[in-house]
This record gives sequence, C-alpha cells and structure tokens, in this order.
Amino acid sequence: MKVLIVGGGGREHAIAVSVRKSKRVSELYCVPGNAGIAKIAKTEPIKVSEFDKIADFAVEKGIDLVIVGPDDPLVGGITDVLTKRGLRVFGPNKAAAILEGSKAFSKDLMKKYNIPTAAYETFDNADEALKYLETAPVPIVLKADGLALGKGVLICNTREEAKAGVKELMLDKKFGSAGNKIVIEEFMTGREVSVLAFVDGKTVKPMSSAQDHKRAKDNDEGLNTGGMGNFSPSPFYTEEVDKFCKEHIYQATVDAMRAEGREFKGVIFFGLMLTEKGPKVLEYNARFGDPEAQVVLTRMKSDIIDVMEACIDGRLSETDVEFYDNAAVCVILASDGYPLSYEKGFKITGLEKFEGKDDYYCFHAGTCFDSDGNVITNGGRVLGITATDATLKGARAKAYEATSWVDFKNKYMRTDIGKAIE
Ligand code: AMP
Ligand code: GLY
Repeated sequence: MKVLIVGGGGREHAIAVSVRKSKRVSELYCVPGNAGIAKIAKTEPIKVSEFDKIADFAVEKGIDLVIVGPDDPLVGGITDVLTKRGLRVFGPNKAAAILEGSKAFSKDLMKKYNIPTAAYETFDNADEALKYLETAPVPIVLKADGLALGKGVLICNTREEAKAGVKELMLDKKFGSAGNKIVIEEFMTGREVSVLAFVDGKTVKPMSSAQDHKRAKDNDEGLNTGGMGNFSPSPFYTEEVDKFCKEHIYQATVDAMRAEGREFKGVIFFGLMLTEKGPKVLEYNARFGDPEAQVVLTRMKSDIIDVMEACIDGRLSETDVEFYDNAAVCVILASDGYPLSYEKGFKITGLEKFEGKDDYYCFHAGTCFDSDGNVITNGGRVLGITATDATLKGARAKAYEATSWVDFKNKYMRTDIGKAIE
C-alpha cells in the first residue's frame, strides 16, 4: 500500500522508520519531511498547514493511508478535510483533537468525568485572574488555553511571578490568541511519565511508557523546550500505576470523549504526574510525542500499519499492540541557544556512521539540504540520537556514545538524559 506522512520533525522520522518496517507498505511519501526522512520516503515541499494541497497530492498519488504527526494540523481539522476527499486518515478529527487544542476543554472534561487531575480555575478576563491570584496558594501553574508549541505553561513560585505571567499571557499576548483564556491550576509534585496510547474510539491500548526531559539544561534547569531527550520504559511506571491509569484515566478519557460526541481515533498522549495521592493527568496531547515517538516506536514489535488501520476501523480490541522487552534512550542534539534564538545552516558530518546498525538511530528533526546536497542544520532541535539495548543503562551508554559520531557548529545537548535510571 501507499502511505503519506504529514510532518517534518523527529517524530515523523521515527514514524517513517516504523512504517518502513511494515511489509505491507510499497511506497512512502512525506510532506514536507526533512533530510533524514528523504532517505526513506519521497518528500514534497508542502506545508502541514496547506490542507487542500496535501489532499490534492494524496489523491493524485493514490495514497491508501495518511498519517498526521503534528498537533497544529490535527487541531486545525486536517483529518476532516482529507476524509471529505475520500482519504483514510490516522489522526483525530477536529472535534476530538480539541482534547489537546483547548486546556480549558480538557480540564472541564476531567472534572465532569472524575478523571484525576490538578484542581483549577479558568479565566477569560485578566482582572479576574489577577484577583484570584491575591489569595491563591503558591507555587501555582498558569496555562494558555490554546496551542503554544509546548511553551504556554508557566510555573510560578511567587504571587508576583504569577501576576506577571497573567500579564504576559493575557495582555501582552505572548502566545497570541492561545492566551485569550487561561487555566490556573494547583502545582503538583512527583515524577512525570508519558504514556502514548492507540485509540479506536472505544478501545484504548497503551504503548510502553516514556520519560521526557523538558528543560533546556542539565539538572532540569533552563527554559521549557519541546523535549531534550527521553527514555523508555520508565521504571517508575509500575504495574500498580498501570492498573490504576487503565481504569481511572485511559478508558475513562476515551469513554468521556465518546459520551461528549467527540469519538477519538488516533493516539492520545497522557502526560502524567505520579503524585503521593496517585497518578494525575498533567496534560493530554492528540498525537505521538516528540521525542516520545523516537523511543517508543523503536521498541514496537507489532506492525504499526496494522494497528493504525485497526484504530480507523474500530477493530483495536482484536489487534495486538506489542513491544519488545528492551529499552531505548534518545538524546537531542540541538542548536545552541534553543529554545530562544539560534543560528542554522551548518553542515552536519558523520551521519553515515548510523547506516547498517539496527540498534542505533539518528532521527532528523531540524535538517534540510543545501544547494550542493549537503545535510545542514535547519532548526532548534536538530537530531535525536537514539539507541536500544537490553537495559536502560546500556541504551543510555550507547546513545551518548553515538552523540560523538556526528558534528555540526553550535551542537548542544544535555548530558544527564536518563541519569535517574543509573
Ligand atoms: P504541559 O504542557 O501541560 O505538560 O506542561 C508542561 C510542563 O509543565 C509539564 O511537563 C510539567 O513539568 C509542568 N507542569 C504542568 N502542569 C503542572 C502542574 N499542575 N504542577 C506541576 N507541574 C506542572
Ligand atoms: N515531548 C512532549 C510533546 O511532544 O509534547
């Protein structure tokens, strides 16, 4: 069959590698892709926001399955547009993608259906938010309602910081209309775990767990980023936690969406905090995580195409979703200065060292070709160096070893990804 992937980051490269493992796939396309994806798929420079152009391209190529990677097009309704054109799409429709598109929606859903999460209030008026903060306990968390590249969350240690945050989000509109409404919520402490799950509208099958490292610098210092590296599985995600989440969080969420007339088909990313009072939902995403996909999909045993088609057709309960009993670690090589300002356009060397190795992966995020065909840096997160091994410790050692195989000007990485597992 012919498959088209929409997106061009490390997550989409990981999805592409996984799709390539399926014997059922004869041709693979990706829009817009990147320099790494171009090695295993035919790429076409169409932006993920150009829904009609993507639809035209997919119809023209006779695509049998479209897989949508990023949040923006999903929340914007790409699945509805492509479906109307007769295409089969893996990814939630607009009505369901609101689970990620509006934090106020997802918090209200959790409250209505008793899904454990932090206590919160929603505000669409800055004066009222400021008044609430006069007496609210600190630390406290502010969240822009809409999409903000994973950066619309402010953890405020003092009331002054929180008030400045309200101004930033609601009055200065740092994240544009995403801050028209904000959620102010209780600060939770505990260990964070990400669990991605396949969903067919009724049935939910979780993938193996992962742990992200969101801050830019070692020891979880510096600014929040899209993710600087991660590992899978998380040793802190015990059987007891899994049992609780399956019952009170995963199935409850899928049932709640159905009850609301927003049947969810695709991947739900559950961002969880393992608090003293049990697991609670930090956030939902309506897609694979980036870089969670890099460590989770490299460990997936089942054919990803079989599973995705089962989600679309509502047959997930009859379909196996299996993972190898191994571990994976991903270390992001970024451009120094990310997530603020950074330079790009530098030549990347050493990429060939990953060829022919099936336990080392170099997933491309921000890369492209220059006019001479060299691979150059083209973003904040450049590469996701990933390794698998029988143990987390082994995978960590291999991933860090492989970070030295490639080089580019202003290469930056955290040195403590997965340190907690040593
Ligand atoms: P989110 O985009 O909602 O996952 O938030 C980004 C990050 O902010 C999370 O991964 C947590 O590290 C942190 N965070 C979000 N909400 C809370 C909360 N209620 N308490 C503590 N930390 C939080
Ligand atoms: N790594 C976090 C995310 O994909 O949102």
